[in-house]
Amino acid sequence: MNHTTALYPPDALILAPLSGYTDLPYRRAARECGCRFAFTEMVDAASLAYARKRSEGMLLRGEEEEFLGVQLVGADHEFLKKAVDVLNEYDFSLLDFNLGCPVPKVVKKGAGAELGRHREQALACFRILAERSRHPVTAKIRIVTAEDPAPTLELVRGLAELGARAVTIHGRIREAFYAGPVAFDIIRTVREALPELQIIANGGVTSLAKYREIRRETGCGAVMLARGAMGNPWLFRELTDGETYTPPTLEEWQLLVERHIAGMVELYGETSAMCMARKVLHDYFRGRGFPGPVRAKISYLATWNEFREFLDFAIREHAESYWSRLASEPEAERRLRRSESR
Ligand SMILES: Cc1cc2nc3c(=O)[nH]c(=O)nc-3n(C[C@H](O)[C@H](O)[C@H](O)COP(=O)(O)O)c2cc1C
Repeated sequence: MNHTTALYPPDALILAPLSGYTDLPYRRAARECGCRFAFTEMVDAASLAYARKRSEGMLLRGEEEEFLGVQLVGADHEFLKKAVDVLNEYDFSLLDFNLGCPVPKVVKKGAGAELGRHREQALACFRILAERSRHPVTAKIRIVTAEDPAPTLELVRGLAELGARAVTIHGRIREAFYAGPVAFDIIRTVREALPELQIIANGGVTSLAKYREIRRETGCGAVMLARGAMGNPWLFRELTDGETYTPPTLEEWQLLVERHIAGMVELYGETSAMCMARKVLHDYFRGRGFPGPVRAKISYLATWNEFREFLDFAIREHAESYWSRLASEPEAERRLRRSESR
């Protein structure tokens, strides 16, 4: 295995795999805001092996997507082998193995975060990917315990020995799901102990300040964004531009939201798309000054026309609160001055 070339640039900002979210329209929205490195949604090995048709939509790659990773979850060796064979027919930038998912449907099959806690089994599964995949292999893990870096380090060391080209560490234990502090110290210990391996830090990056903190505290240059970019793909632009970042004008925001939902309608058909679009829209509308009763209407949108009317109404009626919400944010003065002068 070639460990000499890093898979990502040292300061890569990566859009995390997000089950139920990071489909092609979602990634296109992120890419408009500067995201270069992204993942499919997590794909279940058994589904891919035996019900390929159902998973195929998840494997779509846009022509403009220069870098796209695919993520596999599973613990059964036969399913993993078949799934890797299927993925070998596609073209991805890398194949990532999920060792961090805490949701019951996954851990009860011994996969995801549950597998990540059993080093030998996890490595036996990863070996299948490493030996069989024609794509470079990586893994995404959670820290194993918050008290002691040793079990996390041993897991990552084993993955590296099997040929992992990069490992993303979400600095929370399985039981924490997505809440609470991120164990920067454990990520740092692993990074320092394995200088040849690219470690990507993940957890809690929602702002420029949090981004700077995770990089400073872990020593990792590459960072993965997850919930911080949900409804706010401009986070990519913010973290890249730093002090010179300008938030989206209301018009930019509207056009991006509209394109995202139009992409879903094209991909899934109007009825399914509008159902799936509600959670995406809730994210886009959150924290942007739209009153609760307006946002509540999102749950009833059933057609493209209803969505268009709703968007026009929300913008007509609440443009002012969009701007006053921005004005209430830290550093608003500088940002607003820049936005208005565009
Ligand atoms: C809705 C949702 C779906 C997720 N789906 C996946 C997934 O498919 N694969 C994965 O490795 N992690 C998944 N995660 C975990 C994130 O990639 C990330 O590790 C976690 O949210 C911590 O980062 P954050 O604090 O910046 O959100 C998911 C998280 C959320 C909230």
